[in-house]
This record gives sequence, structure tokens and C-alpha cells, in this order.
Amino acid sequence: MEIVRDPLELQRMCATWRREGLRLGFVPTMGYFHAGHLALMDAARAQSDRLVVSLFVNPSQFGPGEDLAAYPRDLERDSRLAAERGAAVLFVPDPEAMYRGPDVWVDVPQVAAHLCGASRPGHFRGVATVVAKLLLLAQPHVAVFGEKDRQQLAVIRAMARQLFLPVEIAGHPIVREADGLAMSSRNVYLTPGERAAAPAIHRGLLRVRDWLLAGERHCAALAGRLREFYAAELPEGRIDYAEFVHPETMTPVAEIDAPVVLAVAVRLGKARLIDNVLLES
Ligand code: PAF
Repeated sequence: MEIVRDPLELQRMCATWRREGLRLGFVPTMGYFHAGHLALMDAARAQSDRLVVSLFVNPSQFGPGEDLAAYPRDLERDSRLAAERGAAVLFVPDPEAMYRGPDVWVDVPQVAAHLCGASRPGHFRGVATVVAKLLLLAQPHVAVFGEKDRQQLAVIRAMARQLFLPVEIAGHPIVREADGLAMSSRNVYLTPGERAAAPAIHRGLLRVRDWLLAGERHCAALAGRLREFYAAELPEGRIDYAEFVHPETMTPVAEIDAPVVLAVAVRLGKARLIDNVLLES
């Protein structure tokens, strides 16, 4: 596996592979790999001849006061894991190489309006911009993203569609710890006590699924019951949001009569954890 730092070198390398008729799979990451990242790499590798992985802690998607400086990093371990997963190249650019010259932004304001977009202003503009750049550099046939960041996936799908980017954007199911906690690089911020409490986030989502199966379809009622559940089962958690949204537009829905995403963000100590579930009517 080659480690490439220069964006144009990556672009040349990937363009050569494309000319040779090879199919390229791409997994963009911010590193500190866990089993969720490895599952994305396996999925991309299974559908391609060359796996391209990027590792870039993208400054433009962090707001002031967020954890850009503290974000966990371990390039040596990540390089080994990406190589073991069959990556042909690990792209590790410097911020200066990715953001040179006057500002250019890609914004998807409607899909970004709610959920994390409301709590983290500017976050999805940073995500859409860097992912557009990465897709134009790697020129993959398929790029794989985790469904844990479901709003991010919706933003990227809309961006790729609107910009006519010739790439398939594939979602991959959330990878969970044995106790249900969604895997995230930010789980390292949890103290042992917070880690023990955190699976309640997912249990709450499963409860909502049960209440829906029992006949409750009104989102306001379901959200109220979910907040009561969290108050009892996760008293140390601060709910940032718990919302029912359309799976593509990410706009709020009032009643479940078609597939709906229930998305939550909970602050637990230093960590802000997100999770979601797709509810079928
Ligand atoms: O999901 C992530 O790790 C990041 O948001 C991404 C897609 C790599 C863009 O920086």
C-alpha cells in the first residue's frame, strides 16, 4: 500500500487506474479506525479492483470550540489496518494542500437544515466541500459511507446528484458494539461509567420501534416517550435532538406512514454521540 500526501499525485494515480479499466472503490475517513471503518473498506474492496482510502481530519467541518485538536489520531496503526484490508493507497493530505487559494464551498443547505446541521452550523458545508474534492481526486466508481452519519450520507447523495458526479454513493449499515453502542472514533472520549450507560441510546431507538409496532404513529408522542425513556435510563445524557425525518430530505415528519429515520444526538460527558434507525410504517 502506498501512502500519498499530494492531491494531484492521487488524482494521477487514480486516473491511470481508470484508464487501465480498473474499478475503483473509495472510503473517505478521518482515521482512528474501528471495526466500522474496516467494514466500509471491506464493502468497497468487494466491489472494486483498487481500494482507495483517505485519512483527513478535515478542519472545515469542525466548528469553533469543537474537538478538531483533540480528535484521536494514530497514523501508524491506521496505515497497518488499511493495508491489511487491501487498500492500494492511503491518501493523507495536509490541510494546506486541500484548501489552497480563495475559498470555494459546496453547500447543501436544505438537507443540512435540521439535526446535526442545526446543532453544528457550517458542519455539512465542510463535509460536502471536502467530499466533493476527495471524489474529484480519487474519481472512484463507488464510494462507501456509514449509515451512522445518515444525514451526512443524505447530504453527500444530494451533492453528488446535483453536481452530476459520476460516482455511486453506497451506504453501509451501522456497525455496533456487542451491547448496541454504535461504533465511533469519539467513543474514546467516554469514561468507563459513561461507556456503560451509552448503549441506552440504541435501546431507546429500539423501544420506539416497538411502540410503533404497537400502533403509535405520531412522531410527537413517540418523541415524548423516547425523551422520558432517556431521562430514566440515561439521566447523565443531554439530548441534543431526537427527531423523525424523511430518509432523503432529512426534513421533519409528523406521522409515520412511510419509511422514516429516527435520529438522535446525545451529549455524554465530553462525547457527542449520534445514532439512528430506519422505521418502516
Ligand atoms: O464521516 C467522516 O469521517 C467524515 O465526515 C468524512 C466523510 C470523511 C469527511 O471528512
